[in-house]
Amino acid sequence: MTTLVVGGAGYIGSHVVRLLSERGEHVVVVDDLSTGFRERVTGADLVELDITAPDAREKLAFHLRASGADSVIHFAAHKQVGESVANPELYWHDNIAGLATVLAACANAEVRDVVFSSSAAVYGMPDVELVTEELDPRPINPYGATKYVGEWMLTDAERAHDMRTVALRYFNVAGAGWPELADTQVMNLVPIVLDALAAGRAPIVFGDDYDTPDGTCIRDYVHVLDLAEAHIAALDYLRGDERPHRVLNVGTGTGSSVLEVIDAISRATGQEITPEIGPRRAGDPAKLVCSTDRIRGSLGWESSRTLDDIVESAVAARRDA
Ligand SMILES: NC(=O)c1ccc[n+]([C@@H]2O[C@H](COP(=O)([O-])OP(=O)(O)OC[C@H]3O[C@@H](n4cnc5c(N)ncnc54)[C@H](O)[C@@H]3O)[C@@H](O)[C@H]2O)c1
Repeated sequence: MTTLVVGGAGYIGSHVVRLLSERGEHVVVVDDLSTGFRERVTGADLVELDITAPDAREKLAFHLRASGADSVIHFAAHKQVGESVANPELYWHDNIAGLATVLAACANAEVRDVVFSSSAAVYGMPDVELVTEELDPRPINPYGATKYVGEWMLTDAERAHDMRTVALRYFNVAGAGWPELADTQVMNLVPIVLDALAAGRAPIVFGDDYDTPDGTCIRDYVHVLDLAEAHIAALDYLRGDERPHRVLNVGTGTGSSVLEVIDAISRATGQEITPEIGPRRAGDPAKLVCSTDRIRGSLGWESSRTLDDIVESAVAARRDA
């Protein structure tokens, strides 16, 4: 089995690449190293290629054929909500046209199985206890919209080219499976708080007047290694005969508030943390927690790591970096 991983030098992709090569699969990583790192790719071939370049489709098809790839996992995308609001063209072009290139190359090289990184951002601001895949997606920013459009594109590609696809809608990803694969971008709560502590600043909590037990926003934090294992299970699902669903949430089914995450960071670092309370940010729902019924039923996958595991692995990765 050969899998071509687009964006495999990134934070999440490199965890999946490591698991695939550990189980003896041949892996080819395609990455332009714009936010990824060459050093993260071990046990796999690395092809440096920008999938938005004019000749990317031909080059990708060549590498798919040359490697004998039978599956593709597509991670490469921009992922900053604020940036997508300010510069939607970048997101339309790189996230949507980039995916179009990957799917066209798959069709050309007759690759059947595709796993796509979608996001809980497709749901927008749902006012529900648990977010199920049956909810009507209503993205509220261009980033989430590009992920939803990406899911439609997979459906069209399935129909036109006899492909089999799965879109995984990730909730809040954090932690590190291996210190050297840790997230180096400071966009999510755990790295933001750790960065503030390292700089001797108080972390800022955006709003403590939400309708939640401690007033701060609740999210579903999933360990990156659990998420990586979900990708392996998704590949096996595509390779099997039964495949009733093509869109699956990936989370733990348990929510943690911003203050609970800060407490976990305090435990892991041994530092007392007194956050500053700032105003709410636009577009932050009070609560976003994943229903895991579908992925458990379809892939037999469920998370096994706790919030403390997530935070401890992120703290250890910084310490050992
Ligand atoms: N990190 C999260 O919390 C999260 C949550 C939901 C969804 N996602 C999605 O998961 C995917 C991976 O996220 P990540 O956190 O690993 O991000 P990342 O930035 O670490 O990884 C993206 C990788 O894609 C590569 N890349 C980007 N543009 C490229 C291009 N044009 N050609 C070739 N390679 C390119 C980058 O160099 C990088 O290695 C993204 O699609 C993101 O939208 C991430």
